[in-house]
Amino acid sequence: MAVREICKNVYSVGVIDWDRQIFDELLPLPDGTTYNSYLIEGSEKTVLIDAVDFEFEEEFITNLARSQLSRIDYIIVNHAEQDHSGSIPVFLELFPNAKIVTSEKCKELLISFHQVPEFRIIVVGDGETLSLGDKTLEFLITPWVHWPDTMITYLREDRIVFSCDLFGAHYATGSLFVDDEPLHYILAKRYFAEIMMPFRSKVLEYIDRLSGYEFDIIAPSHGPMYNDKEYILDAYREWSSDDVKNRVIIPYVSMHGSTKKMVHYLTESLLSRGIAVRPYDLGRADTGRLAMDLLDAATIIIASPTVLFGPHPKAANLAFIANILKPKAKFIGIIGSYGWGGKTVKDLGDMIHKLDVEVLNPVYIKGYPDEEAYKGLDCLADEILNKHREYNIL
Ligand SMILES: Cc1cc2nc3c(=O)[nH]c(=O)nc-3n(C[C@H](O)[C@H](O)[C@H](O)COP(=O)(O)O)c2cc1C
Ligand SMILES: [Fe+2]
Ligand SMILES: [Fe+2]
Repeated sequence: MAVREICKNVYSVGVIDWDRQIFDELLPLPDGTTYNSYLIEGSEKTVLIDAVDFEFEEEFITNLARSQLSRIDYIIVNHAEQDHSGSIPVFLELFPNAKIVTSEKCKELLISFHQVPEFRIIVVGDGETLSLGDKTLEFLITPWVHWPDTMITYLREDRIVFSCDLFGAHYATGSLFVDDEPLHYILAKRYFAEIMMPFRSKVLEYIDRLSGYEFDIIAPSHGPMYNDKEYILDAYREWSSDDVKNRVIIPYVSMHGSTKKMVHYLTESLLSRGIAVRPYDLGRADTGRLAMDLLDAATIIIASPTVLFGPHPKAANLAFIANILKPKAKFIGIIGSYGWGGKTVKDLGDMIHKLDVEVLNPVYIKGYPDEEAYKGLDCLADEILNKHREYNIL
């Protein structure tokens, strides 16, 4: 993508990855992504903010060449993850006088990932500034959104916050700014659930901190920029809050239809009680979509048959993912079917030990569901209804 001006002497020089389909070998990207990089030309110094994925280093270097700058003095590295740092080695080679400016933790990671020579790195602390002549950068050390190294760079005179992964969206678009809010909202929520959800309290802390800064534009490292900052700050406040919705998500797997029948019955039973429900067949579900729906559902019901004395591996995988992503759910239940014995309920319960949730009474039955099983599921639906009532979300 060509070099594009954001405001006077501030340019977008990143790349668009239209075709990327998966991130971290885990998360499907239905709309590709972008790796954003920004160039700021001050009256005395020129800086680049973040680089791009290794696969796009040629396009990136071409962009820099097109910008017709004779030199770049610094590259600010807000985050060491390879989707941003992958092209740093080639950059350092082609700009032998440029120095990296980054956090202490990021320095350590850059050295271990790319063997960057130490003398090329300048470490900055929280609140430190860097003068470019007529422009000033300020660094906010903001660990854990989403790595220990993350920081935010603030361009004072042009009132721009360069937030790197924070506020990003995996969304390949040629638009510099968000121009399709409904579509962007879904992709940003999905991204939040996949990447920022485990760090909700940090997100709120940093949003609060940013309120002490005057800015009009947020420039993340994935997806379009924001010139309506309240749109994304409000969304992040809501997603990071403890608020949940009157919704039940039922990720399920079923080999021979027994557990599936239970899921269908429970779905109807909850719907008839005025509770929103979304069953997900784990054989087909898109992990990112599921993560997004898990974000603010009040209740999660994991449904699995017993396989070799424990949960089906697909249900175990879901429990593992929920345990690390830490959705906001207040209640979790386990349902399913077994043939002769095992410890599926206990194993699944153990797998979600990090979640601060109330575990509901399981409905775990032998074989295909009968009248008694349906009664058990109706009781579970009643219990969920009461819990949601107590939470005032009905
Ligand atoms: C590969 C395989 C392994 C199984 N291992 C166990 C087991 O260890 N313990 C058990 O109680 N049932 C076991 N079962 C039986 C299923 O749990 C039982 O048939 C259950 O009703 C299947 O539910 P579904 O129809 O939702 O797949 C196994 C079934 C299969 C296909
Ligand atoms: Fe990252
Ligand atoms: Fe990233």
